[in-house]
Amino acid sequence: MSLDGRKVLLIVTGGIAAYKSLELVRLLRKSGCGVTAVMTAAAAQFVTPLALQALTENKVYSDLFSLNDESEMGHIQLSRAADLIVVAPATANTLAKMAAGLADDLASTLLLATDKPVLVAPAMNVRMWLHPASVQNMAVLAARGVAVAGPDDGVMACNEFGPGRLAEPAAIFAAIAALLTPQPRPLAGRHVLVTSGPTHEPIDPVRYIANRSSGRQGHAIAAALAALGARVTLVSGPVALPDPAGVQTMHVETAAEMLAACVAALPADVGVFAAAVADWRVDNAGSQKLKKSPGGAPPQLALTQNPDILATIAAAGPQRPRLVVGFAAETHDVRRYAAEKRQRKGCDWIIANDVSPGTGIMGGAENEVLLVSADGIEAWPRLGKDEVARRLAARIATTFTP
Ligand code: C5P
Repeated sequence: MSLDGRKVLLIVTGGIAAYKSLELVRLLRKSGCGVTAVMTAAAAQFVTPLALQALTENKVYSDLFSLNDESEMGHIQLSRAADLIVVAPATANTLAKMAAGLADDLASTLLLATDKPVLVAPAMNVRMWLHPASVQNMAVLAARGVAVAGPDDGVMACNEFGPGRLAEPAAIFAAIAALLTPQPRPLAGRHVLVTSGPTHEPIDPVRYIANRSSGRQGHAIAAALAALGARVTLVSGPVALPDPAGVQTMHVETAAEMLAACVAALPADVGVFAAAVADWRVDNAGSQKLKKSPGGAPPQLALTQNPDILATIAAAGPQRPRLVVGFAAETHDVRRYAAEKRQRKGCDWIIANDVSPGTGIMGGAENEVLLVSADGIEAWPRLGKDEVARRLAARIATTFTP
């Protein structure tokens, strides 16, 4: 893989894995990529500036207030000269500073001052990685479009086992190469509408009917379609996920709101309806909190059917997207129900999956789907939801390439 002429600004922060940054530099240099290194004060406890200087064949920067450096190459200029900024290893502390927007040394100042893409390769103790503070910081960074490589699972320097180990230099290099190589954008100029997550149907101002959908699959599909160049409108029910970077996300609660947002987003070239829309809403939802009276009968909830968003948008008409994809979550007879659903709802494809409790699919990280189309049924292997999303996006793109 040649990265000839490309330039990476490598920020090395202080962790035991810092020695692996030397191997990463070697791989980058071998590919023809120019590397300038910046070290935090803590990093210099683990690798020497001299080693980085020798391998990068460039001056190594570490001090924010070095008048010499500022006159030669100001800290803003350092990041301007790069195509990509890579933080490897990225400690919990550095990631927290990035999330908070702190700038108290050269590395964090560069990261705040840059408008270049940023890739982080986290490395830390497993407890630190799983701490809610780190989880939240990573979500903030992901929502800002920061790319992430790793961390890996494994035995750590502190003898604990779990996620937190720096990704292998070859894997970080592959992530850098992917970011520096222009990706094909087969869906450029196309508008895609995606629904995701559950809906909440109010019973009264404080209670609602919901379901266990996490929105992970729908959000991943929106991100994967955006990565192929599509303009994506994501209509999301209430989820605990960050809005995908580069996607216009509209937040709704009820099925009625979701339908209105979808109709407002038309026209679209493609519609992907991954939301788990409540089939029914409460017809007699209370405008005030329902009160229980001692010994009194429980309230009777009258349910009424929600509009079918997929069927509404898939109905023939000038606004119908060229490709309409629905989902079918079933607990048995998946093939039969999916094929029936495709016909009944008027969609082109159905992505069907078995959501029986034993499968761990609903709310989980993996999915095993069937793609049901007019051409027949295709079974995909069990894959991460991100990979299912990438495959589906790539498949959608093939329908737009001559
Ligand atoms: O009928 P069922 O809920 O099984 O259909 C699932 C498919 O229909 C999914 O694509 C879902 O997003 C969509 N749907 C919808 N509006 C509804 C019910 C389902 O868009 N009210």
